[in-house]
Amino acid sequence: MALKIKKVNDISSAIGPVKGPLPGQAKAKEEAAISMQGLTKRFGDMTAVDHIDLEINKGELFGLLGANGAGKSTIIKMLTTMLTPTKGEARVWGHNVSRERNAVRSSIGVVFQDPAIDGMLTGRENLDFHGRMYGMDGPLRQRRIDEVLELVDLAEKADIKMEDYSGGMQRRLEIARGLMHYPHVLFLDEPTLGLDAQTRRYIWQYIRNMNKENGVTIVLTTHYMEEADALCDRVAIIDNGKIVALDSPENLKDMIGSDSVSLEIQSGAETLIQSLQRFSWIKSASIINGTVELKVDHAQQRIPEIMQVANECSAVITSVGLHKPTLEDVFLKYTGRKIRETGATANSLVAMMHRRKK
Ligand SMILES: Nc1ncnc2c1ncn2[C@@H]1O[C@H](COP(=O)(O)OP(=O)(O)OP(=O)(O)O)[C@@H](O)[C@H]1O
Ligand SMILES: [Mg+2]
Repeated sequence: MALKIKKVNDISSAIGPVKGPLPGQAKAKEEAAISMQGLTKRFGDMTAVDHIDLEINKGELFGLLGANGAGKSTIIKMLTTMLTPTKGEARVWGHNVSRERNAVRSSIGVVFQDPAIDGMLTGRENLDFHGRMYGMDGPLRQRRIDEVLELVDLAEKADIKMEDYSGGMQRRLEIARGLMHYPHVLFLDEPTLGLDAQTRRYIWQYIRNMNKENGVTIVLTTHYMEEADALCDRVAIIDNGKIVALDSPENLKDMIGSDSVSLEIQSGAETLIQSLQRFSWIKSASIINGTVELKVDHAQQRIPEIMQVANECSAVITSVGLHKPTLEDVFLKYTGRKIRETGATANSLVAMMHRRKK
């Protein structure tokens, strides 16, 4: 008889026990860990995911970055076989997400955006249940439970009921559960949503370790720019269901161009601008609302020179601001708005808190 648990968005309850060889033993047929061709999802008239073409390499730590409603979770749900694509194709670890669902499910671990834990069970019981659903035998299951608990630093809390875990501990346990059956690819949908800055940094460390030390290919979604920047080898910026930019965070930031230097100045602004024009590393100089705004290559190294020139032309500077391009600037360039303005954080947080209370 099939086991039942109450949270339907837990992949193990949604898909039932997985048959066949243990996930970690499955062999990939293709080079890319994940490939999508024209992947599209419509809900009625609304196109949530719009012809996505993308390959994610084995061993990559890949980020889908986008605002509230961009289509990130819908992409994850199609790749994890929870939603059927309307059009197009996707393969995960060589298996077609529409036609080889069991093989896909065997190759992946998933942490969904909505929490999917049974608070009445302890951390260890949750993991044990998951291991059973994946057909792991007793000794292997017990060994793996200890390993994954160790990985997310929860060994000492293993026998506490999960309703008594903090939000960060629950998220870590969910990540551990996603790893239980030795997946090739781990999907993390908003892994740190609503967690405090310190807990988020711990979770980043676990994610890095899983990727770099355990070789797990990781696909995460986030609307935290700094998360994508700190963690990901490559990032796809998703807007209205489309990829609008795709590259490493470094390259994306480089595309924005020079650093910005803002000089609050008491007197001598015009003379200073004229004196600075002769340097090739000054890309532009202007006065905006009384502040001297410069575009400068490698600004950090140039600030002493700028101060020296200001000194020579008797300009009186009262403060200096330096702004290096961030992924926020990249997002602004490609979408025409700031991610914070979209209300992503607030909306998603309110929704999540509401769900967590249930
Ligand atoms: N089951 C569904 N039925 C109808 N519309 C849906 C469904 N699931 C998602 N959508 C819509 O598809 C769009 C993309 O939603 P999705 O959840 O993929 O966005 P997201 O990028 O994950 O956003 P968030 O940052 O809030 O998690 C949204 O407009 C959403 O309302
Ligand atoms: Mg989402």
